[in-house]
Amino acid sequence: MAKSNLYGRDLITTQEWSKEEIIQTLELAEEMQKKRFSPEFSNVLNNRSFFMFFYNPSVRTRQSFEVAATELGGHGLFLEPKTMRLKTATSAGETVEDAANVMARYACGLGIRILEDKIADYGEGDALIREYAKYSEIPIVSMAHDKFHPCQGLADAMGYRKHLGKDLKGKTILHAWGHGALGRSHCSVQESMLICSRLGMNVRVAHPKGYSLDPEVVKWTKKNCSDNGMEFAVTNDVEEGYEGAEIVYSRNWMSEKAYHGGEFHKAEEVEKALKFTDWICDEKKMKLTNNGFFSHPMPVDRGHEVTDEVASGKRSIIIDIAENRLHVQKAVMALTMAG
Ligand code: CP
Repeated sequence: MAKSNLYGRDLITTQEWSKEEIIQTLELAEEMQKKRFSPEFSNVLNNRSFFMFFYNPSVRTRQSFEVAATELGGHGLFLEPKTMRLKTATSAGETVEDAANVMARYACGLGIRILEDKIADYGEGDALIREYAKYSEIPIVSMAHDKFHPCQGLADAMGYRKHLGKDLKGKTILHAWGHGALGRSHCSVQESMLICSRLGMNVRVAHPKGYSLDPEVVKWTKKNCSDNGMEFAVTNDVEEGYEGAEIVYSRNWMSEKAYHGGEFHKAEEVEKALKFTDWICDEKKMKLTNNGFFSHPMPVDRGHEVTDEVASGKRSIIIDIAENRLHVQKAVMALTMAG
């Protein structure tokens, strides 16, 4: 592959890439899906290594990045920050500047996941990733942090293009809060709001009072929608928003009070969230949609965020979207790291 215009770029949120760059990535991912093991792509990262820092657990992200690196002829290395003597807010160790500079001499890119209980306040994960990006000469890719999950957003969009057509303009997506036992970060839903609004969709959000999303992300989403002549709406009504939607993205996220006193209060979050038993995506609510598809970044909290009937039903596209993680990450690595 020839060096792309995205060579050397970080991916912290798709909001920081142009619409053309997002489409370029989606088109390459679609081509890579069609020609999965073609020699055209099997040497793109020949002999190169991609480092992955996982502060938090993962199934899809770790597996799909490792497979992506292998299919491009390179290698993905799983690294646990706790084994690396890195400096943190509470312990002495190597600075981000030194670690980032050294790693750039070994690898072609660095992915980082940091969220939920691994930070003391909302925004700290984003700040850490941006500090790595400041010092590193190789691309930094968010593999999900407290604010954004760009690879998930690209995989979602690839799924919507497959099921609704490549032009998503005028289609409507509802992001519905789901009650649940996981106290999840805002990253997936915020990334979805941003990329869907960039691609011309009407964006709706429904959540109980106390579960507002990041005001800055809401502001950007509103502007993205208005730039495309589309609508953005937020409601605290559990059913409002389903009416006429083409995609329902049902997902739990933590409340506005999840972080206090310098830590994440997961037990409090779960206890509070489980009381909102009406906040579940079920067949009755899906009947209000325009024959809508069910979307979720996974892992799904079945019985809380969504019923089994919907999650395993004919209109569920969650497995397609999980597969897309592989294709979009191959495209991101090829475009930003192959030179
Ligand atoms: N959607 C997603 O990021 O899945 P994992 O947490 O399993 O990586």
